Amino acid sequence: MGRPPLEQAVVVVTGASSGIGRAASLRFARRGSRLVLMARGGEALEEVRSECERMGAPAVASRGDVRSEDDVERVAAEAERRFGRIDVWVNNAGTMAYGEFWEIPSDIFRTVVETNLFGQVHGARAAIARFRRQDGGGVLINMSSVWGRITTPEVSPYVVSKQAVRAFSECLRHDLEGKPGIDVVTIIPQAVDTPIFEHAANVTGGSLRPIPPMYDVGTVAEGIEKCAESPNREVNYGRAGRALELLYALAPKLYCRVAPSMFLRGTFEDQPAERQDGNVLHTTGPYREDGGWKAHGKPRLRRAVLAAGAGALGALVGRKSFRG
Ligand SMILES: NC(=O)c1ccc[n+]([C@@H]2O[C@H](COP(=O)([O-])OP(=O)(O)OC[C@H]3O[C@@H](n4cnc5c(N)ncnc54)[C@H](OP(=O)(O)O)[C@@H]3O)[C@@H](O)[C@H]2O)c1
Repeated sequence: MGRPPLEQAVVVVTGASSGIGRAASLRFARRGSRLVLMARGGEALEEVRSECERMGAPAVASRGDVRSEDDVERVAAEAERRFGRIDVWVNNAGTMAYGEFWEIPSDIFRTVVETNLFGQVHGARAAIARFRRQDGGGVLINMSSVWGRITTPEVSPYVVSKQAVRAFSECLRHDLEGKPGIDVVTIIPQAVDTPIFEHAANVTGGSLRPIPPMYDVGTVAEGIEKCAESPNREVNYGRAGRALELLYALAPKLYCRVAPSMFLRGTFEDQPAERQDGNVLHTTGPYREDGGWKAHGKPRLRRAVLAAGAGALGALVGRKSFRG
């Protein structure tokens, strides 16, 4: 037996209760895949599980923290026990923290890296062990980010984790060379309209907005579904990351003058915001697919584009940056 079609495949999705993971889980359910859904918060996960079952897809909700290797292994074992194998593992669970490095508490920094990087290391270990011993292998899908390509101020733990995820994925491909049947995909999106910006820890004192252009959550979920069927090495959403990466390679001094200022102006709104730990240490809602930015935040997003442009221009003509 080769790799089964998605209609018969067993798919594990981490971070399945919100945003991209939630949207991807429902897409797999629509195809009839058998699903194992993982996140820390039980109620929201149960909601997604019932929705999958309503679509006719057998689904298991398995609560756990991706930072715990035991939790991840337990979820993989549950998938095998229930469905006999694992064909696709989506390493999607992730979290963010905004603030200058020295302002971000140590436990928040560590947890973001542990969740985003070690969560995926644990997922890869559990999935690849099964892929290697079963007929048909399997597909491992790792979520990186545009920050897997570029660096900016005030998101250091996230950037560190997402660059590491991209490197980890590449290392896995090297190690799997000559072992046919196992594919590793890295998804690299720019901003996606999900609740992650509400969930993020924020110690900056200012309220946040994602920098447009922003992708619909459905577009990235569709990409995950496509990669599960026809795996690609890296899938990018948005060109800004690549363009800025090229700018950094060719003219690092220019990059450092323009990009940080563009990012700061585009991200921070004028309104103050209370410090928050968000969902980094403990789960917290809202749990939904959509962040509501495109539907309700158009003027704010327009202001973000204008501010980012002004920041870049200001930096070029030597004006002081937003936080400078
Ligand atoms: N949205 C974007 O702009 C964007 C862009 C590029 C890449 N990404 C990446 O895409 C992935 C999904 O992001 P999203 O925007 O969909 O975020 P989201 O809406 O905040 O959803 C995050 C999901 O991860 C789960 N999660 C968080 N920490 C966890 C942990 N320790 N153990 C298990 N589950 C955990 C959350 O549930 P619980 O809190 O209940 O555990 C939730 O289901 C992340 O890896 C993110 O870095 C997002």
